[in-house]
Amino acid sequence: MPKVNRKSVLILGSTGSVGTNAIDIIMNNRHLFDVKAIVAGSNADKVTKQAIDLGVQKVALLDHKAGCRVREILANRNTANFDNHAGLGPRERSRSGPSISYPGLMEIDIEVFSGLDAILDLCSGHYDIAISAITGIAGLLPTLQAIRSSDLVAIANKESIVCGGHILLSEARLHGTKIIPLDSEHHAIYRILGDEGDREKKNYKQLASIVLTASGGPFWFKSKEEMDEAKITDVLRHPTWDMGPKITIDCATMMNKGLEVIEAAYLFDIPIDQIDILVHPESLIHGIINLHDGSSISYLSPADMRISIAHALSLSANDLRYRHKCVDLAKLANLRFFSPDYCRFPLLRLAREAFTHSVQAMIVLNAINEKAVQKFLDGKIAFSQISLMVIRAMDDVNTYKNHDISTVQGVLELHNKIIRKDEVH
Ligand SMILES: NC(=O)c1ccc[n+]([C@@H]2O[C@H](COP(=O)([O-])OP(=O)(O)OC[C@H]3O[C@@H](n4cnc5c(N)ncnc54)[C@H](OP(=O)(O)O)[C@@H]3O)[C@@H](O)[C@H]2O)c1
Repeated sequence: MPKVNRKSVLILGSTGSVGTNAIDIIMNNRHLFDVKAIVAGSNADKVTKQAIDLGVQKVALLDHKAGCRVREILANRNTANFDNHAGLGPRERSRSGPSISYPGLMEIDIEVFSGLDAILDLCSGHYDIAISAITGIAGLLPTLQAIRSSDLVAIANKESIVCGGHILLSEARLHGTKIIPLDSEHHAIYRILGDEGDREKKNYKQLASIVLTASGGPFWFKSKEEMDEAKITDVLRHPTWDMGPKITIDCATMMNKGLEVIEAAYLFDIPIDQIDILVHPESLIHGIINLHDGSSISYLSPADMRISIAHALSLSANDLRYRHKCVDLAKLANLRFFSPDYCRFPLLRLAREAFTHSVQAMIVLNAINEKAVQKFLDGKIAFSQISLMVIRAMDDVNTYKNHDISTVQGVLELHNKIIRKDEVH
């Protein structure tokens, strides 16, 4: 397969839900994309399979043990080819697995790295497209590095925008990097409004507000008592989307929509009081813009992340092959819409307040939420305690108002301070 003119791609969070969807599209468009590097946390088996399937040159994992495991799997896969490393220095030999013969592909060497520095090293290479799909603030440094050195960054990692949007977006402007939102609601608004550079367009000038829809998560039709008694399996059962555990839990508390309101304020540079939420359990309409002349424009699609990922990829390769059935409105019996419920889902309100308060408040909000979600996943707290932990932490937010957040190191310091607070070792 000729490699000329293929767009080079970096995938951050390749083993996750968004990463896997991106790979699905790329595998059907191998003639257009050359995935050079993939990054994951610790899922050695999955990342190895992806590396082989995609024919990537470089893999980086956060976890060192997982890095060793990948090398081991690669070494055992085809020891007959090991001598193909003749000519490599000892460092390259130790970093890489064997050459792999793969049907239809050129023989490839896969270099395996581990640790944060190695991840950042990979991110500092130049790529035509970087997909930012690590979950949580762990994605911030890799995303920043990718923004500095890639042409287009397709971003799903909302926590990084919530905590470091002030840095990421100014770096994108500085380096002329195009940012394409993958989150379906933001992608919807982006598809209606166009690029930042198009802001002289009529829709921008006439913009009265934007509306992000929310499925309402698994508890929208449940009582507060039922929510309080929810087991982990109930929380992880999202009615319309199939996603990683962190975002699925955030959907259940509706913190996800709170984070998305902040994300939209950054991405579209729109005052937060012009960003509305509309609960729409069918998850078919993802975003609406309301114009001053009384008209509204909405974007609808099936609830499938591959649609926004495919569009982002098609901006670099316009003959991308991706087909999906459109929503058939005639077949739908009912589309339902509700105003948000700020009593049962207090984190929605807190997220808005955090944005209005300060960057520090948004970092605290996100950090305590990441900590609470992890505790819930570990079985240490009940579902209802997630919101309580966040509410309690936000009472103290003024304590951090002078913390320096002008650099990404400052942002991460504050995040870590919140994560470590009250932990008994
Ligand atoms: N899933 C969706 O449909 C969706 C929709 C909109 C927005 N988003 C956003 O996209 C992001 C990813 O969501 P997801 O659902 O795809 O999450 P996920 O399924 O949990 O996947 C997370 C990915 O990040 C990797 N990872 C985690 N911590 C890491 C670290 N410290 N360093 C390097 N890699 C790390 C994981 O690797 P391992 O597998 O090795 O742990 C995995 O590849 C989130 O910010 C989410 O809010 C997701």
